[in-house]
Order: sequence, then structure tokens, then C-alpha cells
Amino acid sequence: MGGAPEKGFSVAENGELVRYLQSHFTPSDPILDQIVQLQERAGLPAIQLSPFDLQHLGVIIRMIGAKRIVEIGTLGGYSGVSILQAANGVSGAQPELHTFEIRSDHGAVAEEAFTLAGVTHQVKLYIGDAHVRLTEIEERGPFDLLFIDADKAGYPDYLDWGERNLRSGGVVVADNVFLKGKLISGESSAVLGMRKFIERVSSGLKWHSTVLPTGDGLLVAVRL
Ligand code: DHB
Ligand code: MG
Repeated sequence: MGGAPEKGFSVAENGELVRYLQSHFTPSDPILDQIVQLQERAGLPAIQLSPFDLQHLGVIIRMIGAKRIVEIGTLGGYSGVSILQAANGVSGAQPELHTFEIRSDHGAVAEEAFTLAGVTHQVKLYIGDAHVRLTEIEERGPFDLLFIDADKAGYPDYLDWGERNLRSGGVVVADNVFLKGKLISGESSAVLGMRKFIERVSSGLKWHSTVLPTGDGLLVAVRL
């Protein structure tokens, strides 16, 4: 495994370059801006997806023509609305999003966001532990895309679920795989879970995967 460590120009270290790229690739959207404000007013933590990662997710959705989408970690609905905006640009049947959120207070904010964006008819929100509630949607699969952005210790279990419930060529996208840098040094349950997730998804047996080093690390894996 391996080869020499990556060398070259690190975009993240050049603020001017980042601003230039964001001005071209991460358009602001009035609905998404309103949802950020809604989340702030409701006191939700400002941990929504980074602008570039939101854009990556949209491009991936268009690339694979994703219509049957599962999200673990709804928060205030920001990523869910963005996912549907991208999926609604794919021709054919109407896209559907099944999104899982453990906190009912976060879910209530997300319901407001979905109403604001006019997508309630395309979303089903499940409040509770995704480990338990994911079983409820299995008969609606196989799915095209699984976006994981919730309890970090649970990532290996969600990968297992994706292995069983995504179509061949379906994609897992997972946020926060760097754990803000703790991935390679810490020993918490989140760190151990994330390392197990990375070992499995990178083994080449069931997935072809990579990490986009934007935000807090966005992992992308195609089901073989
Ligand atoms: C946290 C969670 C996230 O999904 C994220 O993108 C950033 C931070 C957190 O729990 O701190
Ligand atoms: Mg996240």
C-alpha cells in the first residue's frame, strides 16, 4: 500500500484561492440561506455541510442519476433540501428522500425547512435511532445514494446497511471522516468507529472509494 505522501499545492492553505473557487463553484441559494437562518434561530449547532461538500454531493447525485436517497442525520434539513434540489434536476421519476434524525427538536426544524423549500411531498422524516428505523425502508430499496452524517461511532453499521441496500453502482457519501483531525490520533468510540469504517470501505472488496479533502473530509464510495 501507499507510495509517497501527497505533495503539492494545498488549496485549503490559500484563502484567496478558496474564495475564488467558492465564488464560482458554490452558488448561494436563497432557500438554503433561509434554512441556515432558520437553523440558527432555532439554536441548532452550525455543523451543516461545508459549501464545497454540498456541491460535491449535488454533482454526485447528478452523475449517478440518484432518485432513491437515504440520509442519516437530518439536522435542520439543510443538506436534505440541497439533495432534493440536485435530484429534482435528474429526469424521470420523482426523487424521494428518506432522512433519519435522532432528535425530535431537530426534526421539527427540518420539517419547517422542507415546507419552506416546498419538498414535503418528497421527504419522509424518521425520528429515532437510525439503527432501528432503517429496517422500515428496506422494502423500498435498493437505493441509489446513502449520505451518512450522524453518530460517528455508527458509521460501520451504516456501511453494512448500505452494502445490503444500495444497488450496484450506488454511492455512499460520508461526512466528517477526518473527525477534525482526531482520526489518526484519538481513541474515542467515534475514532475507533471511523477507523473501522475506513478499513472496510477502502479494502476494495465491496467498494471503490476515495476521500475528498474538503470540509472535514468527505468520503465517496461506489458499491461494486
Ligand atoms: C459535528 C458533526 C458533524 O456532522 C459535522 O459536520 C461537524 C461537527 C459535531 O458533532 O461536532
Ligand atoms: Mg457532518
